[in-house]
Formats: sequence, structure tokens, C-alpha cells
Amino acid sequence: MSLLLAFDDERALAERLAQATSLPLVFVARHRFPDGETRLRLPPALPAHTVLLRGLQQPNEKLTELMLAAAGARELGAQRLTLVSPYLAYMRQDMAFTPGEVVSQRHVGRSLAGWFDAVITVDPHLHRVATMDEVVPGRCGIALSAAPLLGAWIAEHAPGALLLGPDEESLQWARAAAAAGGLDHAVCRKLRHADHEVEVELPGLELRGRAVVLLDDVASTGRTLVEAARGALARGAATVDVAVTHALLVGDALEQLRAAGVREVWSTDSVPHPSNVVSIAPMLARALSSSERPSAAR
Ligand code: R5P
Repeated sequence: MSLLLAFDDERALAERLAQATSLPLVFVARHRFPDGETRLRLPPALPAHTVLLRGLQQPNEKLTELMLAAAGARELGAQRLTLVSPYLAYMRQDMAFTPGEVVSQRHVGRSLAGWFDAVITVDPHLHRVATMDEVVPGRCGIALSAAPLLGAWIAEHAPGALLLGPDEESLQWARAAAAAGGLDHAVCRKLRHADHEVEVELPGLELRGRAVVLLDDVASTGRTLVEAARGALARGAATVDVAVTHALLVGDALEQLRAAGVREVWSTDSVPHPSNVVSIAPMLARALSSSERPSAAR
């Protein structure tokens, strides 16, 4: 018998996952001391297989919690620990872009491999690294994609739309979503100058009168999508909507998207946000059950 542990700020997805897996769900009790330290309380006796759901949006404090939760869970009886982290932070820093930069992906991945036996995530920003097994060396790493789910949603709510990935790295998601929804797709080219300063060059397609849906793995400041939306509307697109797996949408991102003329913002429930319309819980449940089979195909 396994158990699903979760944190109450991810209650909605935790409850959907518990229902989809039929696992008993227990929330980790968390206290934050005035000086910033955290105390966690887990059930005093854990089953041999314990699953922990923890997305890594706003990751720094959560990484400390993960370290404590994993170590505590082992002491309390968990022999096999699976982390379900729908949004896995620190995946974008996958090389030293300037000399001396720390390659966060490598080190966060190695830490997770030290704490967990298996890591399941959704649309991690893998670009120069091909698989999740490489991110968590020696452990079972599973990368799922919500792009087909978003493609099906878009086909229903913006029939005939052109899916436009805002940069070349988004091709993998645009292609998969387009295949699932029977839609056309293309990608832009992006040049990032700073956190909030991005240039997006649109592909040379006719956009006049078309419904365009911008599709990406993650929206953080939203500036990538803002520039792509402005460009598409300037080229005569009839409507521009946005679909992302991970709606981080920090700061004024949503207001900026609206100001740029974006009509709807759709996301999965990987990160709790008012734009959540597609649940990844059934897909996570299937992956959890296949990861328990000895020769799980991934
Ligand atoms: C990176 O290439 C990702 O796929 C996203 O395009 C990027 O992280 C979005 O960041 P922001 O919303 O801050 O422009």
C-alpha cells in the first residue's frame, strides 16, 4: 500500500491525483519559524512506497523542504520514494552561458537523485539534455508532456487555430499539440536581452484573419508571449490566445498579456493559477502506475 504526501498549497491537484490513483492522501504539516526556518511533520509511520507531490514553482524554499521531507520520510519507513514534481525548476540553466556560471540543472538534478528513487515531471525544459534519466543520474526519471492535452483543448476552444511557439525551443511542444489537435503549427525566433526584455521574430506565414494560439512550456514574466502576441496582432491575426503547461506568470505578467491584446490564457493545473483549465492528474496517475512496473517503458 502506497501513500500520497502533499502540501496544502497544492491541494486541488493533490486531491485530483489521489482520486486518480486511489492513494490515501496526507498533507505535510509545515511551520515557518520567524527566522525563516521550516519545520515539517509527516505521518509517524510511512509505507514502504511513498509518493510526494511537490511542484517547484518559487523553488528555493521548496528545495530545502524537499531535502527535509525526503530524509524524514526515509527515517519514518519509506524505502522507495517517488517525487511527482509537475513543474521542475532550474531546468533552463543547462549550460554555462558565460564562464563561471553554475549549471543549475545538473546540480539540482543530482540533489534530487540523492533524495528520491524516481522523479516524475511534466514538460521539463530539456534542451541540451535529452532525457530525465540524465537529469537524475542513476534514478528513474520520467518526463511527461501536457502538449497533447493542450492541443486537444485548443482544437475544441479555438478550432482551426494556428499554434505558434514563441521560440525555437518550443517546437517540440507546438508539434505535439498540433498533432493531437489536428492543427497547423510554426515557431518564432527569440532573442532575450534581459529578464523582462525579449525580441521575438515571427515566421513568414500569412497571419491575416487567423486565430493564433501561442503555445509554450512555461510563462514566467510573460514577456516572451507578450512580444509574440504583439507581433501576431500587428500582422493581422484575428485573435491571440495563450496556452502553457506551467503558468508561473509572476508579477504583472497577466496584465501585460492582456495589455498586449491576448484574449484567453489557458494552462494546466501543474502550477495552481486562475488560468488552469486542463488537469494533468490522470496522466500523472498513469505514469505513477507504470513507474512501479519493473521494466516501465518511458
Ligand atoms: C524558455 O525558453 C521558455 O520556454 C519560455 O519561453 C520562457 O521561460 C518564458 O519566460 P518569460 O515568460 O519570462 O518570457
